Amino acid sequence: MTPEDVKRIQTTWGMVIPIRDQAAALFYGKLFELDPALRPMFKSDIKAQGEKLTDMITVVVNGLTKLDAIVPAVQALGKRHVDYGVKDADYDTVGTALLWTLEQGLGDAFTPEVKAAWTEAYGLLATTMKAAAASG
Ligand code: HEM
Repeated sequence: MTPEDVKRIQTTWGMVIPIRDQAAALFYGKLFELDPALRPMFKSDIKAQGEKLTDMITVVVNGLTKLDAIVPAVQALGKRHVDYGVKDADYDTVGTALLWTLEQGLGDAFTPEVKAAWTEAYGLLATTMKAAAASG
C-alpha cells in the first residue's frame, strides 16, 4: 500500500463521512441482498451497528500510516467476530458490499485507482481479522 493509496483512501473516506448514515443503510441493504442468511446474525439495532462499523473504518483509515498501532485492535475485532458466527467466506461478501457502497457514494470519485486502494486495504483488514480468528 503506497502513500498515494493511503491518501486516496483517506480523501474518499472523508467524502463518505458526511453521508455515513445513508452509506451504512446502503451497505446493509446490499449485504443482505447478496446473502440473506447473514441477516439473523445481526441482533442489535442496525443503525447503531452502522455507526460502530463506520467508526471502526475511521479508526482503520486514520491508522493506515501507522499500521502497527492498530493491528492489535483489528486482531481483537477478528476474534470477537468468531462469536458473532462470522465465517471466512463472509468476508468476501462484506468486501463486495463495501466496494459497491463506496461506488454508490463516491460516483465519479470512485476511480480505478481508488477502487484498487480500497480493495487492498479491505483485503489487509480481512486477512488480519481471519488470521486472528483462526488462532483461537
Ligand atoms: C472486515 C471488516 C469488518 C469490520 C471493520 C467490522 C466491524 C464491526 C464492529 C466495530 C462491530 C461492533 C462490535 C465489536 O466491536 O465487536 C461488529 C459487529 C458485528 N459484525 Fe462486523 N466487521 C467487519 C466484518 C464483518 C463480517 C465479514 C461479518 C459477516 C457477516 C460481520 C458481522 C458482524 C456481526 C454479526 C456483528 C454483531 C452484530 C450484533 O451484535 O448485532 N462483520 N463488526
